[in-house]
Amino acid sequence: MVKAKLSVGRISFAMKSVFIVAAVMMVASTAVMAQKFKGLALTPPMGWNSWNRFGPNVNEQMIREMADAMVSSGMKAAGYEFINIDDTWEGYRDSLGFIHADTARFPHGMKALADYVHSRGLKLGIYSDCGDKTCAGRIGSRGHEYQDALTFAKWGIDYLKYDWCNTEGLDPVGAYTTMRDALYAAGRPIVFSICEWGNSKPWLWAENVGNLWRTTGDISANFDRNIDHGTWTQLSVMSILDLQSGLRKYAGPGHWNDPDMLEVGNGMTSSEDRAHFSIWCMLAAPLISGNDLRDMSAGTKEILENREVIAVDQDSLGIEGFRYSSDDSVEVWFKPLENGDWAMCFLNRSLTPKKARFDFQKETVSDSLSGRNADFSTTVYSLKNLWTGKGLGTTRRVLDTVVPGHDVLTLRLIKK
Ligand code: GLA
Repeated sequence: MVKAKLSVGRISFAMKSVFIVAAVMMVASTAVMAQKFKGLALTPPMGWNSWNRFGPNVNEQMIREMADAMVSSGMKAAGYEFINIDDTWEGYRDSLGFIHADTARFPHGMKALADYVHSRGLKLGIYSDCGDKTCAGRIGSRGHEYQDALTFAKWGIDYLKYDWCNTEGLDPVGAYTTMRDALYAAGRPIVFSICEWGNSKPWLWAENVGNLWRTTGDISANFDRNIDHGTWTQLSVMSILDLQSGLRKYAGPGHWNDPDMLEVGNGMTSSEDRAHFSIWCMLAAPLISGNDLRDMSAGTKEILENREVIAVDQDSLGIEGFRYSSDDSVEVWFKPLENGDWAMCFLNRSLTPKKARFDFQKETVSDSLSGRNADFSTTVYSLKNLWTGKGLGTTRRVLDTVVPGHDVLTLRLIKK
């Protein structure tokens, strides 16, 4: 008896050792193997997300309609591809811990919805949270990261926005890296959107973790007035813009600063929408529209679907623009573009119209980050107003114009 017991003990000890060695090898190999998917989001992602307009009111019918509208409105043709469901789609975990969508809101389940969205030539995004509950109090992924990544991959999800509510005691680098590894292990290339509001400066650590990272708290459809909600502040477009200062060096193909989703069409004036959109494009920001695509005014469409402004954002160099000057509420921004072109944007932050004068012959635009310079004394560029489509002469002449309040003059400087 004693002998037998001992030998069972020895075998189980040996077995345990084998398991331990195997486990260590697996962890080690995951550590070597784990990475983010290559080749995703080489230009800033473009799409739509439910949160800014609909908040916690999402359901499959609405998402289908939004996919249809993305096609019929011309948004898809303009380059938008993701239909992203934000918070409150989550239902329950089954007895094995697998997550399921809220059956009342998504009666046919996420796989069927992904199939539908894919059939429209689009991609489906979803939302989860590093904590055990999302910001809206639904189920989060904490402790179920690998299971959820697998489930998302099986459903055919293409984009994951991963939030940071209810994460007491969690380390952001660890929590986001765990989900990155889980997504990678699940094997389906899923764009990974880090949403921890810039708290732990993700630009310093997330280049190899995510494809984009929020740099600030939540946006609101306000040009320059923050909204105080007591425990948190919803930021205006201009506040968010100012918080981007110093971050451009961290962005590039596959890893973008995310100043939050667009509020175009959600209540600002058309000038403010135009300014918001232009400046997001100057920042090479992800262009995730947040309005009701089923009910877009002609003006909203003109802004969101302006291909030449979108081309500034989607330029293959992926260099974020920079503020060149600021004088009497008028800022001048530049962004280097492919083929030696430049985007230039005059932003009037005040409500009164302002003169904008730029004597190219007296200025040299030099970007030490990208090593690109526009020497207007040796190179001539023609100017195109990207909102009117009109030519505005060349850099040989002084540009002398007026920018209306809360508006922009957005130009492409085309190298001759
Ligand atoms: C956070 C995010 C928002 C949105 C909500 C959902 O506030 O920053 O973008 O996803 O949660 O609850």
